[in-house]
Amino acid sequence: MTLDDIRAARRQLAGRIITTPVHELDGPMVEAALAPGTRVLLKLELLQRTGSFKVRGALINVLRLTPDERRRGVCTVSAGNHAIATAYAASCLGSSARVVMPASANPLRVARCRLYGAEVELAPDIHAAFRRLEEIRAAEGRALIHPFEGPEVALGTGTLGLEWLEQAPDLEAVIVPIGGGGLAAGLSTAIKLLKPGCEVIGVEPFGADTMYQSRVAGRPVGIERVATIADSLGAPFALPWSFARCQAHVDALVRVEDAELVAAMRFLMEQARLAVEPAAAAATAALLGPLRARLAGRRVGVMVSGTNLDAGSYARLIAG
Ligand SMILES: Cc1ncc(COP(=O)(O)O)c(C=O)c1O
Repeated sequence: MTLDDIRAARRQLAGRIITTPVHELDGPMVEAALAPGTRVLLKLELLQRTGSFKVRGALINVLRLTPDERRRGVCTVSAGNHAIATAYAASCLGSSARVVMPASANPLRVARCRLYGAEVELAPDIHAAFRRLEEIRAAEGRALIHPFEGPEVALGTGTLGLEWLEQAPDLEAVIVPIGGGGLAAGLSTAIKLLKPGCEVIGVEPFGADTMYQSRVAGRPVGIERVATIADSLGAPFALPWSFARCQAHVDALVRVEDAELVAAMRFLMEQARLAVEPAAAAATAALLGPLRARLAGRRVGVMVSGTNLDAGSYARLIAG
């Protein structure tokens, strides 16, 4: 994946996505929470169409299908944000989508998929959802729009890296959440191509640490059980393409507890007026926790990757 490839992907997305703002956090409470001299630039991808960065990869994927493939339709599996993005991409580009979601998916996400015209099926859990997806694919010949694997996904998230560095060229480190690793794979590749000295750090919840376990094993592995409030980061396994890019370009991986995610959600609400789902608070949680000292005095980009959560669930989560 070259910079030219990422620039071509961006031209394909032009007019279809939003250039999301970068917001610098400041104020005495922010300073008190961080190590001395740390500057924080939030990338507000939660303001992206469909509520998350996932739409970048979904659109690239559907745009690159042949007319016949588009006619046959697409399918995917997701805890929500990618399902919504795929449903949206299919509806914009004259295709149809079938999505399989775990039964625990937030009802607002299921409703959003249906509003974009997708046929939604619920499976008992994320492992069962992946199995059901394979059946649908085999039976209907639909194109798989993968939630986190492959070049098209990474080209989409590569455009996010390109955009962020153009908006904030003096970034010294960026922190990104990792589920299956499609976000980190593309974003880190773009950042290392443009600015090799900028550190890229990935964050996972302890209860869904597939990339961390894969790094320890030296190959992509799966985890038996996903147990975190950050359902959007609950990929049950890593896969070779994104794993290889993360190995090459993600300098460090850290893990956070669910309680740290909740604290970061509260911090983003109180200091930046942002109501985010747990996954989108992961990078902030890492900066306030395990990365606080390491990134002292640096100019740090913090990814706020998306949010699709109903008000009641959000209120219950931050009430603790
Ligand atoms: C809001 C949000 N942040 C981060 C991620 C992680 O992305 P990836 O699975 O590509 O690592 C997801 C994945 O769905 C997400 O929805």
